[in-house]
Amino acid sequence: MLQINPNLSDLVTDAAAGLAGRLQPKATITAAAPGRVNLIGEHIDYCDGFVMPFAIDRYIVIAGCANGTTNARITSALSEEVVTLDLTQPQEISEPKWANYLRGVIRGFQDRGHHVPGFDAYILSSIPGGAGLSSSAALECATATFLEGLLDTVLDTKEKALLCQKAEHDFAHVPCGIMDQFASAFGKPNRLVLIDCQTGEPELVPFENPDLTVLISNTMVHHELSDGGYAARRKHTEDGLAILGKASWRDVTAADVQANWEKLGDPVNRRSRHVVGEISRTIAAAAALARNDFETLGPLMAASHDSLRDDFEVSCKELDIMVEIARKIGRNGGVIGTRMTGGGFGGSTVTLCESRKASEIAATLGAEYEKATGITPQIFASRPSQGAHLVG
Ligand code: GLA
Repeated sequence: MLQINPNLSDLVTDAAAGLAGRLQPKATITAAAPGRVNLIGEHIDYCDGFVMPFAIDRYIVIAGCANGTTNARITSALSEEVVTLDLTQPQEISEPKWANYLRGVIRGFQDRGHHVPGFDAYILSSIPGGAGLSSSAALECATATFLEGLLDTVLDTKEKALLCQKAEHDFAHVPCGIMDQFASAFGKPNRLVLIDCQTGEPELVPFENPDLTVLISNTMVHHELSDGGYAARRKHTEDGLAILGKASWRDVTAADVQANWEKLGDPVNRRSRHVVGEISRTIAAAAALARNDFETLGPLMAASHDSLRDDFEVSCKELDIMVEIARKIGRNGGVIGTRMTGGGFGGSTVTLCESRKASEIAATLGAEYEKATGITPQIFASRPSQGAHLVG
C-alpha cells in the first residue's frame, strides 16, 4: 500500500526524453521544485501565524533549452498540446489554465525588467495534483528556477518565493499565503521550514530522527481552491480582525475572541477561534517536536484537525474518515499524530508515526479507507527534501 516515491534522477531522465520526443533533442536547463506537506499551522499563513511545512520528495521537473526565437513552446506529460507564448508581450491570463502558472511567473520576471528569450520546455510531475500538496506552487517555483537558468541570473530565494506567490494571486486567482512557495523554495533535506508569517522569515528546523516517518494519505477527493471556499475563509479572517480592531492576529488572544463572540457573529467568531488557537498550537508543536515530546504533539495535531473541521469548515467527509482511521490505530499502533494538511476541501492527511510501524499503518489506512468510501487512496512516506534547484 505504501507507494514508492519516484527518484528525482529518473524524473530528470524522463523529462529529458519527453523534451526530445516532443520538442528539442537536448535539455540544457533542468529545474526541479518540490511539493510540500504541512505538519501543523493551517490557514494561518495569511493571518501572521506560524506554519511548519517541509518540502516533500515529490517534484515538478522542467527540462528545456533556449530556442533562438521570441516564443516559449511548452508542453507536459499530461498534455498533447504545445502552448506557445509570445515573449515580446507582457504575459496575461489565457487558456489553457495550467499554463497560467508559467505565464504568471514569466510576467514576474518581465515586471522586474528581464527580457525572457524564447525557450522550449517539457514538464513532468510526481506530485499528485489537487491533493493539497502544492503542485501549483511547485510548478511556479520550478518555472522561476528554470528562468533563472535561462537568464543566467539568481534571485534572492525570498524574492523568488514572493514572485511565485504573486503569480498564484494574479494568474490563478487564489489569494494564498506564503507557506507553499516558501516551502518549495527554501526546503532542505532533514529540515522543516518553520515560517513566521508576520516577519516572513523562514527558519530551518532539524527533522532527522530516523524513528519518525511522515505518511501522506491522498483521499483522491480533489479540491479547487479557486472556486471561492479559500477566498471566503480568508475574507472571514480579515473581517474578524477588523471587528476586533487589531492590527495583527498575533495581538489577539483567545479571551478577546470569546469576549467579542456575539459581535463577531457566526461564522466569523468560529473562524477567529481557529486562527488564534492554531497559532498557539503551532508554537507549542514546534517546541514539543524540538524536545521529542510526542505525547504533547499528537493531541495538538488532533485539535488542529478538529478546529479545521468544526470551526474553519475546510475539511470534508473523506478527510475526516482518513483521520478517524489513523486515530483508531492510535499511539499503541504507532500513530503519533494525524490531521488534514493544506488548503482542505479534499486533498490529503498527514500522519506522523513510528517508522517501524509505518508500512503496517499505511496498509490499514489504505484498506479501511477503501472499505469506508470505495475509493483507493494513494499513500506514501516523505522525508524533508531539497527545495527548488537547477539539476546538473
Ligand atoms: C493553501 C495555500 C496556503 C495556505 C494553505 C492552508 O495551500 O496556498 O497559502 O493558506 O492552503 O494552510
